[in-house]
Amino acid sequence: MERIMTFLLCLVAFSITVTSGHDNVCFRPQLAANIEMTGLQRFFNPGAELALSCKQGYTPVLGPRTIVCIASGEWTKTKLLCIPKRCPYPDLLSNGELDYEDTVYQSTINYTCHEGYTLVGAATAECLANGTWSTAVPECKSVTCGLAPIPQFGMIVYDRRISGNTTEYGDRGTYKCLPPHVIIGEPRAECTASGTWTKTPECQVVTCPPPVNIDRGYMSSNDQRDYDYMETVKYGCNGDYVLEGNLEIVCQQNGKWSEKPSCKAPCSIAIQRGRILYKGRKLWIENLNPNKVLHKEIVSVYCRDKARNCGYAVPTQCIDGKLKIPDCFEHPGSAEYTLNSGSLPSEITQC
Ligand SMILES: *[C@@H]1O[C@H](CO)[C@@H](O)[C@H](O)[C@H]1NC(C)=O
Ligand SMILES: *[C@@H]1O[C@H](CO)[C@@H](O)[C@H](O)[C@H]1NC(C)=O
Ligand SMILES: *[C@@H]1O[C@H](CO)[C@@H](O)[C@H](O)[C@H]1NC(C)=O
Repeated sequence: MERIMTFLLCLVAFSITVTSGHDNVCFRPQLAANIEMTGLQRFFNPGAELALSCKQGYTPVLGPRTIVCIASGEWTKTKLLCIPKRCPYPDLLSNGELDYEDTVYQSTINYTCHEGYTLVGAATAECLANGTWSTAVPECKSVTCGLAPIPQFGMIVYDRRISGNTTEYGDRGTYKCLPPHVIIGEPRAECTASGTWTKTPECQVVTCPPPVNIDRGYMSSNDQRDYDYMETVKYGCNGDYVLEGNLEIVCQQNGKWSEKPSCKAPCSIAIQRGRILYKGRKLWIENLNPNKVLHKEIVSVYCRDKARNCGYAVPTQCIDGKLKIPDCFEHPGSAEYTLNSGSLPSEITQC
C-alpha cells in the first residue's frame, strides 16, 4: 500500500513539472490529410513558424502554407488542402479494353486485348506523383496465322487479298476442289485466335453407279458406267403416263443419285352415261374418246340437289390411275338417258 502511494505521488509531481516547464508552448499540430511539415519536434515556442507542404502526388490549394505558434499556445489557422494530382484521361485501346476507376495519383489502368489480339507493351499503368502515366498505352496486335493449308486437288479463295505468307486472326476463305473431286468437310475456313487455321477439308473423287430406269419411262442415257459428281440424267414417261418429281437426277456429293421421278398412270372415268365438265367444257361421256384423263387432271360430274331440284358440278381428280366418282353421282338408267336427257342434273337449272 505504501509503495503504491509513493508511486502515485511521484506521478503527480512529474506531471506538474512537465506542465509548468512548457507553459504557453504549442504542441506539434494535427495536420489534415496529405499535409506534411518539416522537423520532428514535439513542442514549439510562441513565434515559431511552421512551413506546410503537400505529400508527393498532391497539389496544394488555398492557404496560407505557413502557420505560426501564438502566445496562447495555439497555431494560427490555415485552409490549406492537398488534393491528389490527376493524370490525363487515357487514350482508347483499339481491339482492346482499358479498366480504371479514377485517373488520380496512384490510380491504375489495366489493359486487356480482345480475343485474337495480343498485348504488346505494359498491361498496367499507374498515375505517378508528377501527373503522368507510368507506361505508354500498349498495342493490341492481331494474332497471325500462316497461309491456309491446301488439300491435294484443292485450293482456297481468301475473302480478302493476302500479301506475303501471313494471315491475320479472322481472315477467312473458301476451299474449292478441282472437278471431279468433291470437298469432304467444311468449305469455309478461318484463322483462329490460337494462330492456326480451322480444319482443312479433303478433296475426293465421287462417282455414282449407273442410273436405274423408272417404271413406264425411259432415261436420256443408258451407259452402264460410273457417273461423276454433278453429272445428270433425264427421265421421261411413256405414252399417257405423267412424270411426277424432277425431270433430271444429279450425282450427288455422297455418291448417290438425287431422287428419281416416277410415271403416273392416266384414269378412265367410270361412268357410262352422263355429262362431265372437263377442261372448262361440258361434254357427254361418249364424246370423250378415248375415255381417259391424265394424272392430276380434274373432271367434274353432276349431282342433283333433290330438295331444290337443281344440278351442280362436283370435281374429282385423277391420281395415278384412280379417279373416284363422287358419292352423290347417280347413274341414270339407259331409258332416261336416251329419252329424257333434259332432266339430268347436268341439264336442269344449276344451283
Ligand atoms: C487490375 O488488375 C488487378 C490484378 O488483376 C486487380 O486487382 C485490379 O482490381 C484491376 N483494376 C481495375 C481498375 O480493374
Ligand atoms: C514523371 O516521373 C517519372 C518517374 O519519376 C519520370 O520518369 C518522368 O520523366 C516524369 N515526367 C515528367 C513530365 O516530369
Ligand atoms: C515466308 O516466305 C519467305 C520467302 O518466301 C520465307 O523465307 C519465310 O520463311 C516464309 N515465312 C513463313 C512464316 O512461312
